[in-house]
Amino acid sequence: MSTVKRSHTCGELRPQDIGREVVLCGWVHRWRNHGGVIFIDLRDRYGLTQVVFRPSTNPTIQSQAAKLRCEWVVRVKGKVLHRPEGMVNPNLETGEIEVEGNELEVLSPSKTPPFLISDDPEATEDLRLKYRYLDLRRPPLQRNLILRHQVCQATREYLNNHGFLEVETPILTKSTPEGARDYLVPSREHKGWFYALPQSPQMYKQILMVAGFDRYYQIAKCFRDEDLRADRQPEFTQIDIEISFVEEEDIFGITEGLMAHIFQEVLGINISLPFPRISYPDALSEYGTDKPDIRFGLKISDLSDLVQGTEFRIFKEVLQDGGVVKGINSPGSADFSRKEIDGLGKIAAEGGAKGLLWMKITPEGIKSPLTKFLSPSQIERLRERLKAREGDLLLLVAGQDEVVSASLGILRQEVAKRLKLIPEGDFRFCWVIDFPLFHYNEEEGRIESEHHPFTGVVPEDIPLLDSEPLKVRSRAYDLVLNGVEIGSGSIRIHQEPLQRKIFGILGLSPQEIKERFGFLLEAFQFGVPPHGGIAPGLDRLVMLMAGGKSIREVIAFPKTTAASSLMVGSPSPVREDQLRELGIKLIE
Ligand code: AMO
Repeated sequence: MSTVKRSHTCGELRPQDIGREVVLCGWVHRWRNHGGVIFIDLRDRYGLTQVVFRPSTNPTIQSQAAKLRCEWVVRVKGKVLHRPEGMVNPNLETGEIEVEGNELEVLSPSKTPPFLISDDPEATEDLRLKYRYLDLRRPPLQRNLILRHQVCQATREYLNNHGFLEVETPILTKSTPEGARDYLVPSREHKGWFYALPQSPQMYKQILMVAGFDRYYQIAKCFRDEDLRADRQPEFTQIDIEISFVEEEDIFGITEGLMAHIFQEVLGINISLPFPRISYPDALSEYGTDKPDIRFGLKISDLSDLVQGTEFRIFKEVLQDGGVVKGINSPGSADFSRKEIDGLGKIAAEGGAKGLLWMKITPEGIKSPLTKFLSPSQIERLRERLKAREGDLLLLVAGQDEVVSASLGILRQEVAKRLKLIPEGDFRFCWVIDFPLFHYNEEEGRIESEHHPFTGVVPEDIPLLDSEPLKVRSRAYDLVLNGVEIGSGSIRIHQEPLQRKIFGILGLSPQEIKERFGFLLEAFQFGVPPHGGIAPGLDRLVMLMAGGKSIREVIAFPKTTAASSLMVGSPSPVREDQLRELGIKLIE
């Protein structure tokens, strides 16, 4: 055989192909020697096909085939046969046929791979990341990358059909304040100066609006030097969108339409529209987080007013300190053991809770360490507020509101998981709106933007900017899917004086404003259309669609949580002369 062309892929052959002469190319997935008959499963990204080499058909080929090992790349010519009675594999799309090999060519042998290419790898993630090309051969990762490709195609299709233009923006740029550290790139031409990699194309997309490109999108790479976790990578991708002459409703409409299109096209799932909207204060008080998972109930209730006046020391002190007592109802969990409840206490502690109080509603009455401190009528009202029925377990946390809400928010998720209240394959979007414009950073003792400094201000709150900036509401919105923030955006400030004022409130001196944002403020003096936009995170969206737990599973070449690539070995030291050329001297 001289060419490397194949007639079919390894996922293609069906009973109607029986009798045909075919040529397949692929990787040896598994091999077995059954008394001299060699079976191999040949794999490519389309599937697996069983190939059989019999000594009776061609002894030379059979003895060649006996030398094959896993992951060798081979080319096989042979005849499609029906599998013998009882050998049909209903789990395989090609499971009714096999190819009887009569020619075999090894295109490339393989060393023994450090782990088996299978659906469930036993290797550690580090080992898999080092040999990412082997890891990527695994069917689940192949499916994820195909899914990602389809999501990108559906995105482009929808946005192109709605009048959007795809525009690329620079990677070597200047700092964009999205709240993380910048990745910096030294300049050779301008020694001692640096480009920043974009944390997002935020300022460019706004400038494109000034330039009159009223509907922009980009599947944009963003770079942020921040602490990494399962849903954060140092470089990630956004579906970045900006539109002129719009208000919140327009962005909601486009985004909802886009999500519905993606889910319909890629997964065949009908997403119901419009997405519910939850105000930021309600999200915090009812779900304990600004990323509410609305696939299940278990809402948090404030019980502070019901336990007023109690002699129970913890409640008394907390309420005196301006704190709160809140709780959730874990339905049908009154039979949780002491150990299980202690376990929940540890989980609540992750949110900062100092302790977890509980109350079991049993057929024999209320069982709780609280019964001796609360009056029967207090207990009754507490039961009512939490809609508790016989068999339920009430979980209460007391403390400062932030800690209590966060702890119950975490507990809510855990209880839902344990009680299997989260329906599989369910996708529930919601908008979180009415965010504050600023928050106070206790550690640094200064006001910061809740989103970014270009976020628009609710017009009637503008007078509060000077007097009570922390009470000012923004025109930002977050898109949340199944408890994960998958997108964020806002109607922007388009008035130069207001933008300047916000920078000032954020503590930037006129000099800093000029150096960092002078170009934007200058552009804002030349006719700015009112505009707004959003940026759904592609990685997180695809992760949820793939049913995955980490965005590393949907990125071809991700970094580890220590921000390194184990495959190519980056970051890495550079040569002395490269540093010299850049005017950089390393300090020991
Ligand atoms: P924001 O910073 O909220 O907004 O980012 C938007 C979305 O991008 C995703 N995302 C990430 N995904 C993976 N790894 C990360 N490190 C990471 N950081 C963010 C999230 C997030 O919701 N310019 C604004 C958008 C706008 O206002 O239009 C912005 O970047 O899914």
